[in-house]
Amino acid sequence: MLGRLVKNASIARSGVYFLENLPVQLLNRFIGPADLDKPTPEQLKTLWPQVVALHEREANNIEQGIYPLSAIQIENPLRHARSFIEVMGDGLRVAWRMRNNKNKDFKGKAAQTASGMPEYYARNFHFQTDGYFSEASARRYDHQVEILFSGTAGAMRRCILPVLKRDTTGAGRWLEIGCGAGSATRSVLATFPKARLTALDLSASYLKVAQENLREFDNVDFAQGDGTQLDYKDGTFEAVFSVFQLHEMPREEREKLVAEAFRVLKPGGVLIFADSLQKDDDPELNWALERFPKIYHEPFYANYSKDKMESLLKRTTGVTAHTELVFLTKMCWLQKPSSSAES
Ligand SMILES: C[S@@+](CC[C@H](N)C(=O)[O-])C[C@H]1O[C@@H](n2cnc3c(N)ncnc32)[C@H](O)[C@@H]1O
Repeated sequence: MLGRLVKNASIARSGVYFLENLPVQLLNRFIGPADLDKPTPEQLKTLWPQVVALHEREANNIEQGIYPLSAIQIENPLRHARSFIEVMGDGLRVAWRMRNNKNKDFKGKAAQTASGMPEYYARNFHFQTDGYFSEASARRYDHQVEILFSGTAGAMRRCILPVLKRDTTGAGRWLEIGCGAGSATRSVLATFPKARLTALDLSASYLKVAQENLREFDNVDFAQGDGTQLDYKDGTFEAVFSVFQLHEMPREEREKLVAEAFRVLKPGGVLIFADSLQKDDDPELNWALERFPKIYHEPFYANYSKDKMESLLKRTTGVTAHTELVFLTKMCWLQKPSSSAES
């Protein structure tokens, strides 16, 4: 009964985000670049059954008690409407940047902050206003991502919960790298109240908004830091995870981040990365992976897509990872061996 309710509500929610995507696409078409790539109706048709399957999977997880309903954030319709107006307002600026390929377009405080940041990071990913360098950008971020994925982003992020449930004790010190505005963070905090989570991000503005979004939780600390050079001792955490971050990094930084995540993990601890599907993971969806970086500013995505996550983890940690595909997301996880032997 609960499962059916969750599934139907999630499908309806996806419908809302799909409709919200239409005016965004119109803006991109009329203001964005003239040669904007358009998916064919056949390509679009491949998506809906997978959206339904994703929501079904989540409904089963909840019905089976793998994670609680509170892992899903229920949106307030009024706040949602206000946020949509904000997102549409920004849509004009995003489309203009898209048209003019402006990917280092910062003003005022955002420009100041960007100037002190690593080169790969100081840019307008997705052509978003202020990049990761303002609270206004952080407040729009989750809504923009949900529109992009027709209301499936949250459910895809939550694919990490069953692995954390099965392969950890649910307690001890945990680390999230690149927590953004705190969406995956919320689901983990709600599911594992006995874990003490450090939510880390390079962006002070995103951390501030994550802190506001998660104020009802007392099992979380927020830390500004760089995932490629973590300020923690070896073997500090029982679990380390990162969601939707690797595809925004050049190969060298990706390797450093994985190596650092593994270093700070305790022997026996679990390491999880969830990020975009990669080339040929699901051939039916290759078109979406090719289209995405052509439209949104994602300069490292093509390289990420070819550099299989399994091989990244193996060459950086020496351990063979498990893989699971969840719609447009791929999750790889591994357990750090207790000795130096391969697991
Ligand atoms: C695409 S967002 C994903 C955010 C969030 N995990 C989510 O699921 O929405 C990538 C995040 O990684 C952060 N980030 C990028 N490079 C980082 C680094 N070297 N160390 C820590 N955080 C970083 C960005 O500030 C941003 O919040």
